[in-house]
Amino acid sequence: MTLSETRFAAAHRAIDLAALPRDFAWGTATSAYQIEGAVDEDGRGPSIWDTFSHTPGAVDGGHNGDTACDHYHRWQEDIDLMKELGTNAYRLSVAWPRVLPGGDGPVNAKGLDFYDRLVDGLLAAGVTPSVTLYHWDLPQALQDRGGWPERATAEHFAAYAGLVAGRLGDRVTEWATLNEPLCSAWIGHLEGRMAPGWTDLTAAVRASYHLLLGHGLATSAVRAAAPGARIGIVNNLSTVEPATTSEADRAAAHRMDGHVNRWWLDPVHGRGFPADMREVYGVDLPERPGDPATIAAPLDWIGLNYYFPQIVTADPTGPAPHARQIDRPGVPRTGMDWEVDASGIETLLMRLTEEYGARRIHVTENGSSYPDTPAPDGSVHDPERAAYLTGHLAACARAARRGAPLAGYYAWSLLDNFEWAYGYDKRFGLVHVDYETQRRTVKSSGRHYAEVIAAHRAL
Ligand code: FCB
Repeated sequence: MTLSETRFAAAHRAIDLAALPRDFAWGTATSAYQIEGAVDEDGRGPSIWDTFSHTPGAVDGGHNGDTACDHYHRWQEDIDLMKELGTNAYRLSVAWPRVLPGGDGPVNAKGLDFYDRLVDGLLAAGVTPSVTLYHWDLPQALQDRGGWPERATAEHFAAYAGLVAGRLGDRVTEWATLNEPLCSAWIGHLEGRMAPGWTDLTAAVRASYHLLLGHGLATSAVRAAAPGARIGIVNNLSTVEPATTSEADRAAAHRMDGHVNRWWLDPVHGRGFPADMREVYGVDLPERPGDPATIAAPLDWIGLNYYFPQIVTADPTGPAPHARQIDRPGVPRTGMDWEVDASGIETLLMRLTEEYGARRIHVTENGSSYPDTPAPDGSVHDPERAAYLTGHLAACARAARRGAPLAGYYAWSLLDNFEWAYGYDKRFGLVHVDYETQRRTVKSSGRHYAEVIAAHRAL
């Protein structure tokens, strides 16, 4: 056996690659604010993340996305990296404030031109783009008019989605409306750890409603503008287990499941907002006739972002859902302190398949942060990230073998990047970024991913 044959054999042993379809999307994922930089360039307007990251104390180290990975200028080099990894798919997000600096109103042609060039570059490289329309960077102008707690924001989102689909829809078929609306609503408006940094339950529940309404309205807008579009929504789901067998912890786990999973999945699947959670929040939903059907617009696929399981205990005096995540002792954790549990991704893929009847699923994000240290020769050896990747891909393949209609896997992330409130010190990339020089170096986990992809192709 040659060396590469030995490596192929190793990849096969760990992951049941034959369970994955021949046309599997092997991808990486990023988002606009985390990598683009160029926040003041070519007519881009400010977003809530510009405001939040420039608020003293909001982001670790006082970091912000002003320069990030300078992808706005280095996109061709980054496409070359995707080719080097052997990926055939790439999940990117469009920055709403680059396209419509005021949220609605005048279109910034230069902003649309950037994504036009990027899409052409990807297609020329044989990489299929999957475009997410909202990855948390609401135009600040719309925040100033009330943001997601206001219904008008959902309507503006649909108009923006139609505009982008009208421009790119002749070449882009894979579309996602929202990335992780849970984070926008709960972390942004209830916990205050992300933009816009509010801690207001009523605003958070209203935001959650208008995010899902915006998703439904945008789905129709994209279909009208790009008839061949395949549309999905991306949720970050977790497995949820009670910390003990006590009645209180079991009820807490059920509430947490409602908060992070059912609240986001049920309405989109035509089941409405879960009644038990409406009671837990005690906030009237800003419902209008016709909304449930809009929110439940038929979808072509569902996106799963998976990072960690949740072990929860009752927290009667804490904020809704009165349940709190606890750390299980003695288990492996990533640099984010997130528990590593690959079986969770299999469980969630099966839940989407069996409980929600999914017909096509993409794992739109999955990955790990570790404190990588480049060796003196500049190389980055990150065996823990490679192991995380292998473990989770093996779990994905098990789910596919059990009948989950898994069509793609997008590793988070192509590049180390601006990890929101954690700044640049948390590194998730398969490619290392030296922020002083913007030099990119493929980590050993990136080479490992390339070998897995090559082994699947060689079947
Ligand atoms: C997800 C986000 C993504 C990235 C990863 C680590 O919640 O969608 O932007 O920050 O976590």
